[in-house]
Amino acid sequence: MERRLISTQITEEDIGNENSLRPDSLDDYIGQEKIKRNLKVYIEAAKNRGDALDHCLFYGPPGLGKTTLAGIIANEMGVNLKVTSGPAIEKPGEMAAILNNLSEGDILFVDEIHRLNRQVEEVLYPAMEDYEIDIMIGKGATARSIRLQLPKFTLIGATTRAGLLSAPLRDRFGVVSHMEFYTVAELEKIIVRSASVLEVDIDSEGANELARRSRGTPRLANRLLKRVRDFAQVKYNGVITKDVCDYALNLLDVDRAGLDKNDRLILETIIDKYDGGPVGLDTLAASIGEDGSTLEDVYEPYLIQNGFINRTPRGRVASKLAYEILEKDYNKQIEEN
Ligand SMILES: Nc1ncnc2c1ncn2[C@@H]1O[C@H](COP(=O)(O)OP(=O)(O)OP(=O)(O)O)[C@@H](O)[C@H]1O
Ligand SMILES: [Mg+2]
Repeated sequence: MERRLISTQITEEDIGNENSLRPDSLDDYIGQEKIKRNLKVYIEAAKNRGDALDHCLFYGPPGLGKTTLAGIIANEMGVNLKVTSGPAIEKPGEMAAILNNLSEGDILFVDEIHRLNRQVEEVLYPAMEDYEIDIMIGKGATARSIRLQLPKFTLIGATTRAGLLSAPLRDRFGVVSHMEFYTVAELEKIIVRSASVLEVDIDSEGANELARRSRGTPRLANRLLKRVRDFAQVKYNGVITKDVCDYALNLLDVDRAGLDKNDRLILETIIDKYDGGPVGLDTLAASIGEDGSTLEDVYEPYLIQNGFINRTPRGRVASKLAYEILEKDYNKQIEEN
């Protein structure tokens, strides 16, 4: 399948503007109310005690604001943020060096933490629990291990695949938060805020239309906003209205439910080739020329979350809504699950 405008994974195009659009305080961070409410309490308590914040794990689909939140926590705590990622650390010694360079209260942000290899992960266990690490000095017969005391730090882990995290690692996080897709109303607020940062005019119907097509994802909302802005400037006096959004997003192949060609192909395949399902994940993936894990990680979350596909023990089933959106006749008996 082709590269998608509506992919929620970060693209070249986003890199330049994500930083400028990133809120830097909890008050500017829109949505995720439950997570924010809890964090506010934990942050205040830690500050009052003069202590480091508990280790936090944020998990959820790409583009929902995990990295943003880590930066905000560092700001609110008034501490340094060190950023690294699972695949970037190959050896236990590299992790030990990073930990050893932290100062009291610092935050170490490990993105894609599920991709840490086992030996590196094991360095984290005593570091997280007791703020100490064992390092090996010397080689061969003279090798010995010494214990190093670390400053009290906070580990913030982010992952799109919480299921892949090992239990011993997961258990060492005091705060484990699941990031939710954003509501249309929340995305509208994010879009209005971003538009003002980008100094582009948008009316409320325009913001609503964009929000509805942004698949619950701020990263996508910001990317679509920038695309639509270009159309607004060239064709519509610079103001983003519902008309511009309709025009631009139809051209860009994002439909009114936020689905693109690939999503529709998936739904169509289930309906036309497999009579609406159930069809197994791998069979479905093969029919559309994707591998199973991409289908599961990249495409399915939004389709399932929004009720286009149901996951049953016997496979994926297209919902009535999927038939409706593709304008196909739904003539099934009530599904038994
Ligand atoms: N709650 C929010 N309020 C306002 N803007 C947000 C919010 N969450 C995310 N954004 C915007 O969305 C962009 C993407 O967010 P971020 O990079 O934090 O996502 P992520 O969850 O770390 O994604 P990934 O899994 O790909 O690393 C940010 O640049 C920011 O502008
Ligand atoms: Mg991130």
